[in-house]
Amino acid sequence: MGKTGFLLPLMVVVLLPFFGATLSADSPNSITTDQLALLAVKSHVTHDPQNLLATNWSTTTFVCNWIGVTCGSRHHRVTALNFSGMGLTGTIQPHLGNLSFLAWLDICHNNFHGPLPVDLANLRRLKSFELCNNFTGVIPTTLGNLSKLEMSLYHNDFKGQIATAVENLSNLKYLYLQNNQLSGEILLVIENLTSLKHLDLPLTA
Ligand SMILES: *[C@@H]1O[C@H](CO)[C@@H](O)[C@H](O)[C@H]1NC(C)=O
Ligand SMILES: *[C@@H]1O[C@H](CO)[C@@H](O)[C@H](O)[C@H]1NC(C)=O
Ligand SMILES: *[C@@H]1O[C@H](CO)[C@@H](O)[C@H](O)[C@H]1NC(C)=O
Ligand SMILES: *[C@@H]1O[C@H](CO)[C@@H](O)[C@H](O)[C@H]1NC(C)=O
Ligand SMILES: *[C@@H]1O[C@H](CO)[C@@H](O)[C@H](O)[C@H]1NC(C)=O
Repeated sequence: MGKTGFLLPLMVVVLLPFFGATLSADSPNSITTDQLALLAVKSHVTHDPQNLLATNWSTTTFVCNWIGVTCGSRHHRVTALNFSGMGLTGTIQPHLGNLSFLAWLDICHNNFHGPLPVDLANLRRLKSFELCNNFTGVIPTTLGNLSKLEMSLYHNDFKGQIATAVENLSNLKYLYLQNNQLSGEILLVIENLTSLKHLDLPLTA
């Protein structure tokens, strides 16, 4: 205890210049960025049958207390977003890619539709990506850059080549691909997926 009491002021002195520098270097390091991203997502939800976002995602309350939102205890940045089963209809905005601390994203069992923004490739800390909705188009090849990804659940209406969206994901353990019209040489890329424990096909070529 005596030791901690001595160390804390020292740490503050050491850390302050660092935080001062990151805070002044524009807003990617702030919860405000996360709030703006979530408000952009909310603004494109066209149907919210339980009024969950409409009443709960209020700018008068702290983002980390919003329903479906979890923040890290240390940085107070959004680390998980869970819309699962809220019955929402809408499109996903590129702003979602601004949640730079996001590790878990679960938007299953809603009616999100349209294309998936390429900007989601900015979610560099993403570990788990659960989409089971009505998306269309291709799985952006940029998602092949999500190097921390351990689980991809793509139960949707995606089309196109699967290989480039997964071939470099060496941490991928679980890959679910049902209800897509994907083509490509999944069997050729599997040998790169050295961590893979579960693969859920089918692909209809
Ligand atoms: C929003 O939902 C959370 C989680 O259910 C709850 O703790 C919080 O009180 C709600 N906030 C408002 C303003 O309704
Ligand atoms: C999201 O919430 C649902 C329902 O509360 C839960 O079953 C699911 O495990 C959650 N997803 C994640 C990634 O924690
Ligand atoms: C968030 O992302 C959008 C689109 O990707 C971008 O135009 C915007 O400038 C970003 N906003 C912030 C606050 O970083
Ligand atoms: C997808 O869309 C179809 C009709 O367009 C609808 O019947 C179905 O419920 C939707 N799926 C989800 C998960 O909302
Ligand atoms: C992946 O990231 C690298 C380095 O950040 C970049 O050069 C490359 O264009 C990215 N690839 C995709 C598919 O986004």
